[in-house]
Amino acid sequence: MPPQIPPHGGRLIDRMLVGAALEDALARAEATPRVTLNEVALADLELIATGVYSPLTGFLGSADHERVISEMKLADGTLWPIPITLAASAEQAAALREGEPVALQDAAGRLVGLLELREMYQIDVPREAELVYQTTDEAHPGVARLYRQGPVLLAGEVWQLAASVPSFPQLAYTPAQTRAAFAERGWQTIVGFQTRNPVHRAHEYLQKVALETIDGLLLHPLVGATKDDDVPAATRVRSYEVLLEQYYPPSRVLLAAYPAAMRYAGPREAVLHAISRQNYGCTHFIVGRDHAGVGSYYGTYDAQKLVDSLEPGALEITAIKFEHTFYCQTCVAIVSARTCPHDRSHHLILSGTKVRELLRAGENLPPEFTRPEVAEVLRAAYQAR
Ligand code: ADX
Repeated sequence: MPPQIPPHGGRLIDRMLVGAALEDALARAEATPRVTLNEVALADLELIATGVYSPLTGFLGSADHERVISEMKLADGTLWPIPITLAASAEQAAALREGEPVALQDAAGRLVGLLELREMYQIDVPREAELVYQTTDEAHPGVARLYRQGPVLLAGEVWQLAASVPSFPQLAYTPAQTRAAFAERGWQTIVGFQTRNPVHRAHEYLQKVALETIDGLLLHPLVGATKDDDVPAATRVRSYEVLLEQYYPPSRVLLAAYPAAMRYAGPREAVLHAISRQNYGCTHFIVGRDHAGVGSYYGTYDAQKLVDSLEPGALEITAIKFEHTFYCQTCVAIVSARTCPHDRSHHLILSGTKVRELLRAGENLPPEFTRPEVAEVLRAAYQAR
């Protein structure tokens, strides 16, 4: 079989310590100052350690940070769209010294990693917000998180000392494991699908159009932190399972969890999502309407435009772009403006707000919008709240 797509930057990073190196690091960590990671940093540690964020080997320093926000590149010129950083409070930072290790723990006090602290620095937060999120509006959930974080960034290489406890063990695959699964299935082309929503008919359509010409689908829902009104990951995972059971050929799909948090950074996050899926071994990645967007901060096709504007070769994975798709009552099919001649009065388009209203009222979503099995999982979850 031809070789798989290389990881971004050429090498799959593995910063998980095992065996004697782990014992040694655990012993060293005993006497080191500790920093507690929030859920986003905890996820980022895992994403770095398992190679999802290859070629990153740690939290970004100031030179990388500056070039990432201003030019979408690491200091060495590699494409990188969003700074992956570790923020600490001034009090926490005062107890640390550059050049010395820092133990990283989760909220329960479990030791999870080690940071070789190379640099502590401060950033211009509104500038990062403007460049990365294109807004300084604190109502934007990603920007709000940025404003809430501590003022000092801790940079340096990391090691993961304890694998995270996966929220969905049946869906836990590292990039090395998805790559092995793809090889075992003999898939040479794989399309990655990022989602933070239940798979509605429009999503299913995009995936199946891609599957007409591509060997396999990595259905890769994000299961890290999301904003409060997104459908919780546990409900979504149930909805994916019932959907796959009824409507997809099992030999063509791998359902796995993407443990990252949502940043809602729209176009730049679409590029991060594409890089991550390349690291998981995908050759193709779907970018549809308002990818990773929120509210009306980004234009419908801004993510696609950003992907198109990248320097040739900067991103190896191929983006498959789709226009806004919806159900047409007259075509009796999922369509887009590219394929349907009818005007809006023929179309069924439900907003996220309308979907939530229907669910809160205990109603099922129309079958033209959502498969009945998925609608039932969502209805039951909303009723149980
Ligand atoms: S996202 O935040 O993860 O991007 P979502 O789960 O809604 O949100 O979308 C997953 C992918 O499907 C994204 O690439 C998005 O652009 C695309 N998408 C979602 N709905 C549609 C639609 N109706 N038409 C075209 N693309 C869509």
